[in-house]
Amino acid sequence: MDRLVVTNLTKRYEKGKFALNRVSLTVPSSNGIFALIGRNGAGKTTLVRILATQLSPTSGSAHINGIDVVKEPEKLREIIACVPQEARAINWTTPKQFVYAYLLWRGYSFKEAAKRAVDSLKRLGIGGYMDTASRKLSGGTKRKVLVATVISSEAKIIFLDEPTTGLDPLSRNELWEKLAELKKDHFIFLTTHYLEEAEKLADRIAILENGKIMAQGTLDDLRKMVKYPYSITVLSQHKVQKPKNGEMIIGVDGHSQILTTEREAKEIARKLVGKGVKFSMNPISLDDIFYHIVRKPVEEEGNYDEEEWA
Ligand SMILES: Nc1ncnc2c1ncn2[C@@H]1O[C@H](COP(=O)(O)OP(=O)(O)O)[C@@H](O)[C@H]1O
Ligand SMILES: [Mg+2]
Repeated sequence: MDRLVVTNLTKRYEKGKFALNRVSLTVPSSNGIFALIGRNGAGKTTLVRILATQLSPTSGSAHINGIDVVKEPEKLREIIACVPQEARAINWTTPKQFVYAYLLWRGYSFKEAAKRAVDSLKRLGIGGYMDTASRKLSGGTKRKVLVATVISSEAKIIFLDEPTTGLDPLSRNELWEKLAELKKDHFIFLTTHYLEEAEKLADRIAILENGKIMAQGTLDDLRKMVKYPYSITVLSQHKVQKPKNGEMIIGVDGHSQILTTEREAKEIARKLVGKGVKFSMNPISLDDIFYHIVRKPVEEEGNYDEEEWA
């Protein structure tokens, strides 16, 4: 049985624009991280809220572990836990009190909740702060408290909506390390607009743009969807020729990037070596893939309600 099956899921908050437009996704049954990437307003939170049984779709269906998200929400809530995008630890509680309260709310006994709260905070590496008031904690530690909260119960399916947005690079890295560890015994549905995060952590990725799934699969699957899977970045101000097969992008810093086929990339690399120009050559990153896939205009594909124009 697949972990997640979403079929033609559509959400319109009001007449007009589709927040989700016939979204279909399949994620096989295994632990790991599924990353939903997309710009602000793409529809990520809407999808998370529907899958976490907090919002009803306009049409379509979704199943997690074979459980119908719309028809069997109570059953589903026993196996999922969610950190919403806007979630914050309560300032006047300590991490231990916060996780403990969450567990009591989930139905655990006092004794079991106390034990689980301590265990999960330790697992996130923040056992040393468990009795410190949340208002005194750093942004990174506060986020870890939220992650500790959702892993404290028996729920093995975790939704994290933009867990690292706004964190400094060091705290983000620390949280990545914890998520990489947690994915061994959890299925984590993660949303992010940091492409590096998805590239580092995710086993499978879907790109959401304007309410539509533009691509889904492993990083390698996505790379195969792109015509030019090799990237050469010329690190100096050296003027490079446009490739025969490919595209050239001039970055804001003046560096040129060439996207091309493996064959032409090797040819260009040989020439650059001959001229002594500094460059780097790599299979394209998720950043390049994302850029390639989402810059296609989608507004023209009938993403608006026709009645609006009547
Ligand atoms: N409660 C709401 N009422 C009306 N429109 C909403 C509501 N929530 C989100 N939207 C709209 O739905 C679209 C998708 O939003 P959202 O799911 O929050 O995207 P993301 O999480 O990717 O930034 C946006 O255009 C947003 O303005
Ligand atoms: Mg969001």
